[in-house]
Amino acid sequence: MPLSTIYATKAMHIYDKKNITIIYLDEVDSTNDTARAFLDAGRISGETLIIARFQRRGRGRGKRTWLSTRNMNLTVSYVFFPAFLSPSHQFYLSAIVSLAVYDVISYYANGVTIKWPNDIYVLNDKIAGILIENSIEGNKFTSCIAGIGINVNEKEFDPSLPNPTSLYLATGKMYDTDAVLDILISHLQSRTGLLKESKGDLLMKEYINKLYLLNRYFTYRTPAGRIMAKIVGVDDFGRLNLLDNKGQLHLYMIDEAEPIRE
Ligand code: BTN
Repeated sequence: MPLSTIYATKAMHIYDKKNITIIYLDEVDSTNDTARAFLDAGRISGETLIIARFQRRGRGRGKRTWLSTRNMNLTVSYVFFPAFLSPSHQFYLSAIVSLAVYDVISYYANGVTIKWPNDIYVLNDKIAGILIENSIEGNKFTSCIAGIGINVNEKEFDPSLPNPTSLYLATGKMYDTDAVLDILISHLQSRTGLLKESKGDLLMKEYINKLYLLNRYFTYRTPAGRIMAKIVGVDDFGRLNLLDNKGQLHLYMIDEAEPIRE
């Protein structure tokens, strides 16, 4: 995206707080794309959060899109520089961002879990999604863009979405998105701080303990067909460990295994 597109947005405020620069934008294609363009143009050097009131082309993992009504929700990209982490532990980034978003939603609602790899659920419905885009040079991360979409005050969703929810639908209350953002920033900073202190193993344990359907038999769609299995862990590469009802362990890469909702 040309930088002129970014500067042509209707509103743009930049301010610093808690050692993080926050860039407020009115309308963009995708905050992750804006973050990428800012990084490529050398305009971001420290921890930064880019937030837009509206995304024209919000992106999800794989080929998914992310739809969010103007001003109703949070669509942000958190940019940080995990040079302290080995790229072989790339999945830790996904785990800590999931934990931070889990923390935020749990502050407001009950029944929160993380659906592997990084969706946030309230009971059986998806309330937040995360799209992580890392840059690695040699054996070092040069940046991590963690795109986060949290459904805050959304009341109605596109009928094509299988199981969406929002804080409003889960709790019956409307929320100030700036207040939710403040809590999100504290948790992102605290979770990245713990990772920096080499607490990756502990964070992975916590991530696993918060997984949706952990230790519960369920039917999964896998490349080998349907299996009845339960989640018993996630390894450092982010592979889901499923133990089937015949006692056999299966490891699945991201998006290879999906519980079947019937
Ligand atoms: C998913 O559930 O597949 C991930 C959704 C991620 C959505 C967020 S909204 C802010 C950031 N910008 C994007 O275009 N996507 C992420």
